[in-house]
Amino acid sequence: MNQEHAGARAATADFLAHWALALYYSGVPKSDIGRQVRQIYEERPYPTPGQNFVAKSRQQLPPFEWIRSMCALRQPSPKRILVAGCGTGAEAFALQKRFLDAEVVGVDFSSSSVLQAKVLQKRVVPGSQMRLLVGDLIDRKFMSSLGNNFDFISCHGVLSYIPQPARALRNISRCLGAGGALYLGVNSAAHFSAKGRPALRALGLDVKKLPPERELRHVLRLCDALAVEADGQKAKLPLNYLAGDLFGPLIHNLSLSRWVRLAQDAGLVFAGHYYAFKKVRGAINEGLLDVLRPRSRAEVHMLIDHLDPCGFHQMVFLEATLDFANLATKTHSEFARSRDFALPDYADEKAKTPAPEELTNQHPRRNRFNGLGRSIS
Ligand SMILES: C[S@@+](CC[C@H](N)C(=O)[O-])C[C@H]1O[C@@H](n2cnc3c(N)ncnc32)[C@H](O)[C@@H]1O
Repeated sequence: MNQEHAGARAATADFLAHWALALYYSGVPKSDIGRQVRQIYEERPYPTPGQNFVAKSRQQLPPFEWIRSMCALRQPSPKRILVAGCGTGAEAFALQKRFLDAEVVGVDFSSSSVLQAKVLQKRVVPGSQMRLLVGDLIDRKFMSSLGNNFDFISCHGVLSYIPQPARALRNISRCLGAGGALYLGVNSAAHFSAKGRPALRALGLDVKKLPPERELRHVLRLCDALAVEADGQKAKLPLNYLAGDLFGPLIHNLSLSRWVRLAQDAGLVFAGHYYAFKKVRGAINEGLLDVLRPRSRAEVHMLIDHLDPCGFHQMVFLEATLDFANLATKTHSEFARSRDFALPDYADEKAKTPAPEELTNQHPRRNRFNGLGRSIS
């Protein structure tokens, strides 16, 4: 199948999925869906605090060196950081530990999650000035009250569950200062829930709410046994993960181009996609970069999403008012010569061509280049 054909097919599937979801929820007020999502996290805050929960969260985020290389942040270390949808705080704690002098603000609309985060804050990042607030990302007034000068915003695993992701993105975008960057982690069209929810419905479960645990584990064990790809054992996943990531009133599983369009409408410029970036490294190591020329980095990353979609997008966007926009339109030949492909973290890896399985790993947790960079303890 040629690239154009693959792209057209993915776009059509995406379009149909979008309209099917819109039709399905056309009679349900968005505020009701939002309330149901909040209830999920009020009952089961995420992630579960425990040993290594900060380290695990850190591993799920891309290295900060990569984020910085995508957007050439003006400050070597961000001074104001917003964690949008902070849950019980692991992501915010990881960032605070990485940037000890930064002012970190975490917000979440689940009050029980924020309460847990506040209790943990004293133990995990003692003495930090971190602020943890209860608030809704779609509430413009609340978001404006946070200020408009954040250098860096991290929003991991949140927007896929918000009925109005465009509104949340606009509010987040307004919080960015000039030259600031947004890291966004969201479900893709290839997320396991995209196949899993119809399959569970076919097995007689109501995917809008978590079924009793015994029944749930039993059905998931069947799904695991029948899975074609070794896609991880879903039956063993914690309930607070399954409650939102597989069940729940709605999940936006969208292609990269659709997320990019939503972000562009919110005034953001797409800078790069972590999985696609690693794939391009493979192409460079194979001496195949010329095939991709003269496309821009953004175009190449979207092309890779059409050819080999990953399950979870990890993207960087830039605040659009500065000429940072030029970065996203640089051609690959320019980037091949720049530090984009020769980050200190990856420099020694260049000699050793990554093993094919490393490049095809779809889940961020299995990637060895994860973790906000190496310098955190
Ligand atoms: C899967 S958890 C991710 C938590 C955290 N970002 C992490 O990765 O560890 C999703 C979080 O987003 C929060 N959330 C969802 N919709 C939200 C909204 N509209 N406003 C604020 N928080 C929201 C939920 O309460 C939940 O804590």
